[in-house]
This record gives sequence, C-alpha cells and structure tokens, in this order.
Amino acid sequence: MLQKKENQALKYDKGAGEFKNWLISETYFNPEALGKVEAAFSLGNGYMGLRSATEERYPNEVRGNFVAGTFNKFLGDKEVTELPNAADMTEMTFTLNGTTFQLTTGEVLYFERTLNLKNAELSRHIHWRSPYGEEYKLTFSRFVSLDNKHIIAQKVTITPLSGDLNLKLNSSINGQMTNTGTQHFKEGVMRLYNQKIMKLEARTNESNIDFTHFARHEFTLENNVFTPKNTIFMDRRKIFMTFEPETIKKNETITIEKISGVYTSRDKDWQNADTALATFSSTANYDTLFDAHRSAWKNNVWEQYPIQIEGVDFDQLAIRFAVYHLTCMTPAHDNRMNIGAKGLSGEGYKGHAFWDTEIFVLPFFTTSNPKVARQLLEYRSLSIPGAVRKAKENNYQGAMFPWESAWLEDGEVTPIWGAADIITGEPTKIWSGFIEQHITADIAFAVWQYYQFTDDQDFMEKHGYELIFATAVFWQSRLEEKDNRYEITGVVGPDEYKEHVDNNAFTNYMAHWNLEKAIHYYDLLQQENPALLKALSDKWDLKTNYQKWQEKSAKLYLPQPNSELVIPQDDTYLSKKIIDLTPYKAASQVGALFLDYNLDQVNDMQITKQADVMILLYLLENEFSPEVKQANWDYYEPKTLHDSSLSRATHSILASDLGDKDLAYSMFEKASRIDLGQNMKSSDAGIHSASIGGIWQVVVNGFGGVRMLDGKLYLHPQLPEKWTGLKFPIYWKGSRLLVHITKNALEISNLSNKDALLTLHGNEITILANSTTLTTI
Ligand code: BGC
Repeated sequence: MLQKKENQALKYDKGAGEFKNWLISETYFNPEALGKVEAAFSLGNGYMGLRSATEERYPNEVRGNFVAGTFNKFLGDKEVTELPNAADMTEMTFTLNGTTFQLTTGEVLYFERTLNLKNAELSRHIHWRSPYGEEYKLTFSRFVSLDNKHIIAQKVTITPLSGDLNLKLNSSINGQMTNTGTQHFKEGVMRLYNQKIMKLEARTNESNIDFTHFARHEFTLENNVFTPKNTIFMDRRKIFMTFEPETIKKNETITIEKISGVYTSRDKDWQNADTALATFSSTANYDTLFDAHRSAWKNNVWEQYPIQIEGVDFDQLAIRFAVYHLTCMTPAHDNRMNIGAKGLSGEGYKGHAFWDTEIFVLPFFTTSNPKVARQLLEYRSLSIPGAVRKAKENNYQGAMFPWESAWLEDGEVTPIWGAADIITGEPTKIWSGFIEQHITADIAFAVWQYYQFTDDQDFMEKHGYELIFATAVFWQSRLEEKDNRYEITGVVGPDEYKEHVDNNAFTNYMAHWNLEKAIHYYDLLQQENPALLKALSDKWDLKTNYQKWQEKSAKLYLPQPNSELVIPQDDTYLSKKIIDLTPYKAASQVGALFLDYNLDQVNDMQITKQADVMILLYLLENEFSPEVKQANWDYYEPKTLHDSSLSRATHSILASDLGDKDLAYSMFEKASRIDLGQNMKSSDAGIHSASIGGIWQVVVNGFGGVRMLDGKLYLHPQLPEKWTGLKFPIYWKGSRLLVHITKNALEISNLSNKDALLTLHGNEITILANSTTLTTI
C-alpha cells in the first residue's frame, strides 16, 4: 500500500537554516508520475546528465544517462542523429529477507525524495513495511560530480527495524538501455578487475564513439568496512554482481557505496579504456568525492551567480532551480558541444540545440559567465561548414544555420516527421528544418550581444566577425526581389503554428538587423583591421556581398504597424479566422488544440503558438514605441496559446516594459512553474532549457530592468510588489558588478579594477572600480 497522497506532490519549504529555499521535495511516491521527478530532479554537470530514476526499477520509469556531444544516428535515412542513452550504472536491486524491495508492494510508511540544489545531491528517506510485515529504514543519496565530471556516486543505507536481515544486492552496469527502443551501441568488452571494478565497454554503431563504464562497491557495517560474499555475472550488454553480506542484526545499519564512471572517446583527454581504468581506480569514496563536489558547486556556481530574490520564498527557490539546471545542462568543458532543448535530462528533442540557446539561455552566460558564453558561440563558429552545406543544398550562399544542431559536421538534423495528424491519420511533416530560418539571424544577434557585454575583441577576430558576415551572406542570397522590394517568403517564424508564410515580421526584421550589422562591421574593419577584412573577404567574397547588403537591406520589406498599430505577424495572419481559444488556454496540457484541429486548419486561424511579434518587440525593443508594444500585446496575447514553454518569459518581460507589474508577475509565476510546479506530466521528456533561461531573463532583464541597447547598459528596475529585494551579478565590459535592488534603493558594487559606465533611469552614471554606489529609486 502506498502512503496517502498529500494535496501537492512537491513541497518547496522543507529547507531550513542554511538550506532555506534550497530544497525541493517529493512527499509521496507516485509510480504514475515518475517522469516528472526523473527530469526536474535530474543531476548533471554539463558532461553528463542523469535522470533521477530510482535504484530499484518500476514499469513506468524512463532511465537515462546522456553524455554531451556523443551523438549517434541509427536507422539509416529514417532517423536523425540523437544523444544516445548510455549504459545505466545506477541500478541496484535489494532483496530483503527474500523479498524484493519495491515501493509498490508492502506498505510505504514514510517517503521523501529531495533535491538539494545547493549541494546538487539527491536523497530518499524511506520507511517500508514488506508484504510480510518486516520493517526497514532505507536512505539513498547520489550526486553527479561537478568536480570530477565522469563520476556518479551513490550511497545506500539499510536498517532492519523488526528483526535481522539477510540482504542480497544485485548491482549492474546495464548497457541494454535504448532511446525509446533504439539501441545505439555495439556490444563491447566486459570485465571484472581485482574482484572489484566492473567494466562495460560499448561503441556507438554509426559515429563509432567508444564508451567505457566502470562501477565499484564498498560495504560498511556499523563503521567497519568489509567485503561480502560476491559473484560476478555477465549477460548481453550487462555486467552485474551479487553481494550477500552476513546477517545484519536488527537496528544495525549497513552502508553500501557504488561509485561509477563513464569515459568516452569524445573526451578531449581520452586515450583508451586502460587509461580510463587507471583514472577511475584512483577515485575516492563517497564522502571525499562529495566534499569536492560540494565545494565545486559553492565556488563555481553559487559564488559565481549569487542571485537572490527577497520577499517570496518560492521565487528564490525558482531562480536557484534555474541556475542549477543551467549548470547541469551546459557542456562548459568543450566548445564542440552545445545545449539541448531538454538539456541532458531526457530524450526529448534528441539532445539537439535550437535557437533556444542563443535567444533564451545565452543571455544568462553572456551576462554572468562570459567564458561559457564564448564557448557556446564558438560551437556555432565551428559548425559553419555544416551551415555552408545547408545553404548550398538550398541554393543559397553563406552560412545557413540548421534549425536543429547536433555534432559539428552534422548540419541540419531536424526530424522530418512528427506527431500524428488527427484528421489524416498520418504523421505531420515538420517544416522547421527546411524553412524555420530565423535561427541564422538569432545566432548573429547573440554574437553581437556577447561582444557588447564583453568587448571580447579576440573572440570577434577569431569567430565573431566571420559569424556576422557569413550569416549576412546567407540573407542577401535568401532575399527575393518582388515589385522593387525584397521579401522573404515561404517560412516558419517563431510561431510554428503558421507554416509557409510570407514576410514573417520577426524573420524579416532580424534578417535586416543582420545585414545592417554586417555593413557596420565591414566599414569598421576597413578602418581598423584591413588585414582581417581582406582575409575574411577572400573567404566569403565580401566585396561583392557588401554591395548587395547595402542594396538589399535598404529595400527589405519590414512589415509596419497598421492603423491600429498592430504589426502583421506575416502577410496573411490578420485576415485569418478568429476562434474562441478559452478552452485551450485553460487546458492543463499543452497542445490541447490538436485534439480538435490539425495543423492545416490551425494554419488558417489567428492562433499563435508562442511569442512571435512579441519576441521581436523584446529583442529589437528600441525600434518600436510603447504604443506599438501595447497595441501588439493587446492584439496577440489573447491569440497566443503559450504552447511553447519559452513564450511566457518573453511576455513577462514585455509586460514589465509596459509597466504592468501584476501581469509581468503572473506571467513569471506561470513560467517559473513549468518544470518546478505541480503539473506532474510537464517534464517527462526533459526539462525545458529555454524556459529555464527565460526565468533568469525575467528576473534580471524584466524585474531587474537590465538592458543593453546600442552598446550601452541600462538599468530600470521594476520589482514585483511582493518582492522586497533582488540581487544579481553582471559582467559589463570587463567589470563585475553586483546589483542590489530594494524597494527604494539601488546599490551597485563594482568588484573589479575597472570603472563601469551605465545608464540608470535615463541618467549616465559611472561606478568607480572597487567601489559601491547607492542611489534612491
Ligand atoms: C518551439 C521552438 C523551440 C523548440 C525547442 C518548439 O516547441 O516552438 O521555438 O525552439 O520547441 O524548445
């Protein structure tokens, strides 16, 4: 019998003292909603991401361990490359006096599973009565080390409460994992070393990446380390050991540690399986590893991003949850890798990177950890060859970036077929890989944003200018001449419920912005670095392109606000049918609309999936008046279903800009609950990276009012009524600033040796190096 369900599965207020607003707890075990906790409580370090499936197995579980960048493509042309599910090293089956420990049998007298964000440790506390009435206390803890990126550490304690215990443990490295049925690995060597370390090797079957997994165990009874009787077994793609300690007396506690490691030939320092074994053999025990892991989180994460919301406990937890996942999802160790739309927390979107990185996640790193932002942009620079190939395949020039990206050379990896069409009964064609083209300008935009924040000239010379030029070369080749103007027809804009539209406002404006920036930097380099310009010109034929940029940019059609100040989302949107969206807006699951209509029908209605014109008004905000912003909000928001998780954050920021604090806050409340809230089905395929990056943007760019416009930093704080304070760091042109906003004061500390210039509520101020400025607001 499972324990009684409390009203809410997740609790946010269990943390006290140094852990106040750091803990998220699941209060009863719900075998029907395993996916939520597996993803939302997932552990990771950017090298790998481990779903928080339990040690013992359940029918509805989706176990997953994903190593960044290890893409593999299986079934020939039918499938696209994806991040394979590596062998599971966490499985442990406990047999207690002959009964397998399972929370769906016997009686759960107490259960709590907690993710501690501060220490990035997951724990479970259980009091279980077996079907035969025997009672046990069990605790489980685990972490994925931030200090040693290859390591997963688990610790289990078992205390028999009603009599002695004969324990049998079966613990494995299980390479039978699949990605929803697809096996990505060829079977490799399995071996036990020194009666202790299990090894399982595997190789991806198309990309030929070698994986080596190890696991070892340590047993302690009442503080005495011992080696129980054990046996090794090998099965297909699976190596496991059974352990049978001597009888454990009533009330004695046995502790079992399992330390596992994964190494792959994608690692920059990879040599071979033997060197990996030598490295793994020297790893310490749980507690020592944990100390190093905890210090890494303290020093590299929480001290690096000391973001604080005062006034609402949940909001403080939510921003920490965001920073936690931003850390877990980001392969900050390797510039050949990027961030998946579900991070490393599930199979959703196959580990692919989208515009989610540049527009939604990158601002966090650009502003708070520019080194990582640079690496993520370098990934785009290193993937230029794939973008050039895509352009050529489509008869364009320059770099046409893939809508979905995986490994550097892969080019476009968007799947072609998606969900079932309820009318035709056939799979729906996914057009984004062919015609969702705004990503090319989004990448150029992120490059420019990074440069403005950091003044990183070295990056610009090695990567940035080329990215801006190569993308502009694409756009000039993409534009179509019609009636003495240039247009972009047949695209999908951010609103993916409208396919094959002409002149999507967001796409046209961003393309125009991209062309103008290329012209600007061409002029600048001509003056300041003609040698670099010459090298880039030779590669990209910039002389010819420069002429074309000038001519075409000036004549590129930019949809203007109509008499009601509404910017047409595309050429036909405003003439389409309007239907009552109330039931769909109220639905608890996204995509409810598609239970009634298919995409062709939705294409003919004024229904928007997510921020489209709205994101334009945010990114290029100084090109539009407050009246235009308000009119467009009033027009589009009621027609927007927010069916993409990245929509609400943008709307919240715009609501702040429009001065509607309550609306901004209610949008934030919804955005911050997408993964962290009580909807137990929202995160099954993984957490929503863009939404999580968006939460940070709402806090810092929305309520904190931080904006970079035309190369200047502006601050216009507008705290929600319920907040009493907000603290966050920003890097601005080489200075590290710590901003503390309260109801009526603003304190900015410059923690660096360089003065910082910014505009506060319209007035320019200088924050002197190593000093603090206090102003009333
Ligand atoms: C959204 C895209 C987004 C993708 C990955 C889609 O549902 O419409 O804007 O890039 O999800 O998060």
